[in-house]
Amino acid sequence: MNTAIGLDGVVVAETALSAIDGKRGHLIYRGYWAKELALSSSLEEVAYLLWYGRLPTQAERAAFVQKWREARELPDEMQRWLMSLPRSLSMSSVLQSAIAALPDETRFDWPPTPDQALQVVAKIPTIIGVRRHALQGVPFDPPSQDWTHAQWHGWCTCGRVLPPRHVRALEAYLILTAEHGLNASTFTARVVTSTQADLPSALSAAVGALKGPLHGGAPSHVETMLEEIGEERQAESYLRSRLEKGERLMGFGHRVYKTVDPRAEALKAIAQEMAEEERWFRLALHVEREAVRLLQEYKPGRQLYANVEFYASAVLKAIGLPKEMYTPTFVSSRVIGWAAHALEQAAANRIIRPDSRYVGPMPQS
Ligand code: SDX
Repeated sequence: MNTAIGLDGVVVAETALSAIDGKRGHLIYRGYWAKELALSSSLEEVAYLLWYGRLPTQAERAAFVQKWREARELPDEMQRWLMSLPRSLSMSSVLQSAIAALPDETRFDWPPTPDQALQVVAKIPTIIGVRRHALQGVPFDPPSQDWTHAQWHGWCTCGRVLPPRHVRALEAYLILTAEHGLNASTFTARVVTSTQADLPSALSAAVGALKGPLHGGAPSHVETMLEEIGEERQAESYLRSRLEKGERLMGFGHRVYKTVDPRAEALKAIAQEMAEEERWFRLALHVEREAVRLLQEYKPGRQLYANVEFYASAVLKAIGLPKEMYTPTFVSSRVIGWAAHALEQAAANRIIRPDSRYVGPMPQS
């Protein structure tokens, strides 16, 4: 396997945003344990920390949240355009298109700024909500504007007001998935930013990378796998048949974590508390044990464990999100990390251009 193609272990940037310890299973956001931020902070405070480098004061937080709420509004012409898009378009593709098409009146001039980032991030759930309501033929008429990002996202993706314990679970998920170093979609955002393209172009490109099933497209495939397994006694034969065919088990393995993904652990604990899907959670626990055991048998020495997506699907299912909203929900959080990296890359201001080794034929003459 030519690991150079996957840039395995190649350091291409210095960042103060997050640190991942793949051996110990640690994730840090700007000096704070991500798992602790998920228990003690709001998503808005974590966005402020990533974009400005420190947690906000009370006054700064109030002003930031107010600006965030005002920024979630979509211009009428954008709402009409969203309704005109083909019905067959996936919500992730709608997001990829809509972010790139955000009206220029927001002035996305170079270099990107936290204010520009806020203008995009705040609109992600609204884009989802307007599109979802249009497809269902119901008016997009949110009962409140004074919601947090998590509450707003819950209403826009589910079409109902989430109960407080579901909002807390959703907010913890959004915080835990907001930032994760130079994963494929974040690297994409940095590459686009390095050419001095505008912020929406970088964020739209990152959505394109995230959609892939090997990356942010995995959680819905995890749920499909658990649905197909159905019950614990079917798990071993199902997983073996997948591995015999050389297929990958969705929700397992990671380029950096060679132990359990700390986000998977945190989401597992949240899923365990959400008794709504107790039978489902027991099935997920059993499938995790069987998958790790069989991966060690079929892929000895590869250190393949549950990653964030395995228990993300259990939490999002317990909240009642439709499966097709899992990757758009990942976009609603990771867009915060992508924007933070775009700000960092803009400050470095150097185009990213790696080299390649030519292995093709040489001219005859
Ligand atoms: C995310 O990078 C990030 O930080 C991503 C992310 C983030 O927050 O941004 O954490 C989010 O994308 C999590 C991953 C979600 N994807 C999946 O769950 C899909 C299933 N997982 C894999 O496809 C895989 O594990 C990757 C893509 C996540 C990582 O792959 P690597 O590090 O490139 O590993 P590899 O493809 O080189 O595989 C090494 C070996 C191979 O076997 P051999 O060819 O050497 O015999 O391990 C095998 C692989 O076949 N392997 C798996 C497997 N993952 C790796 N075999 C079966 N099932 C799996 N899940």
